[in-house]
Amino acid sequence: MAHESEAIKFYTQAARQALDDGDIGSRVLFEKIVLDEEGHKARLELQLSLIARVGEAAYVAKNISGPGDGGGGVRHRASGFLAHN
Ligand SMILES: [Fe+2]
Repeated sequence: MAHESEAIKFYTQAARQALDDGDIGSRVLFEKIVLDEEGHKARLELQLSLIARVGEAAYVAKNISGPGDGGGGVRHRASGFLAHN
């Protein structure tokens, strides 16, 4: 999670600098990266919240996937957890 926060801070500053430099293309690119990183951070916060609420064992049991079921793993199945609860 610290990496996401660092990335948000870094690219926010980069966007501000690009704006100051009149480099609109770079500003837009950096802003898009910030939005992506904010999404990553929010997803991590949600998963940590779920683990805290249901317990690690229940979280893993619900989100683990095996061969032949799409191979999405925890990340892909995590949204299914929300849909079922
Ligand atoms: Fe990220």
